[in-house]
Amino acid sequence: MDQDVTQGHYARLAATYDENWVYSPAFVEWMTGCIQRLLRIGPGDVVADVGCGTGLYARGLAEYASAVVCAEPSAAMLARVPRDGRLIPVAASAEDLASGRVPLPHEGYDAILLKEVLHHVSDRAAVIAGLAGLLRPGGRMLVAMLPTRISYPLFPAALELFASQQPDPAGIAELMRAAGMQAELTCDSFPLTFPAERYLQMVRNRYMSLLSHFDDDELAAGVALIRRAHPGEEISFPDTIAFILGTAA
Ligand SMILES: C[S@@+](CC[C@H](N)C(=O)[O-])C[C@H]1O[C@@H](n2cnc3c(N)ncnc32)[C@H](O)[C@@H]1O
Repeated sequence: MDQDVTQGHYARLAATYDENWVYSPAFVEWMTGCIQRLLRIGPGDVVADVGCGTGLYARGLAEYASAVVCAEPSAAMLARVPRDGRLIPVAASAEDLASGRVPLPHEGYDAILLKEVLHHVSDRAAVIAGLAGLLRPGGRMLVAMLPTRISYPLFPAALELFASQQPDPAGIAELMRAAGMQAELTCDSFPLTFPAERYLQMVRNRYMSLLSHFDDDELAAGVALIRRAHPGEEISFPDTIAFILGTAA
């Protein structure tokens, strides 16, 4: 995605980002549980959450780790990471860390999380290889991302744009293997239900960066299509997430 569009999107979204998911604390709890089950963070572990956003998941992971470095290029998102001794904010992109342009505060990492970030990265091979170099032996890297096809209730143009832009999770696993890690791809789903108006307001707020490609009129027309397809009081859909776990030798 164009870097200016991405930066403008997250600068606008920062203030309301947590509301989208805090509406469903059960979702955040489920996702944190999935991440912890795969990353197996233990006391004494040093973790980096790359593209941490507001630290929505770093907060939960900090309960298991000795420190979670929260790296994020959007100043507006990073400013929302809670002030907590175990959450260490670092203003940096994945590319900054992978190339060593911005050094991280610890020598080696036991776990690195990239949740819904890699679609913003152009040279994913270089970023995955560079970040793999920050892992200690046996360290884990977890990429959590949407699959290429999603069943979100969006309008057709948005779904088509999504499918054309989203990287393939199987390709991410290949990049991890090329970077010298063992890699395993799994998927898991969580059933989401929103009051219809609440969900439509999230779409109007462009809660997904993808929606920043549509102007106000296109978005209003899209919301009308969604409403027609979902006339009830609630909108339900499964949120399926692909998890790619890499383990360093
Ligand atoms: C969909 S949000 C996910 C935030 C967080 N990981 C979560 O799951 O709540 C994507 C985040 O990636 C950040 N981002 C965009 N480009 C990035 C890059 N090149 N490197 C690292 N993070 C990036 C955005 O600023 C935004 O905070």
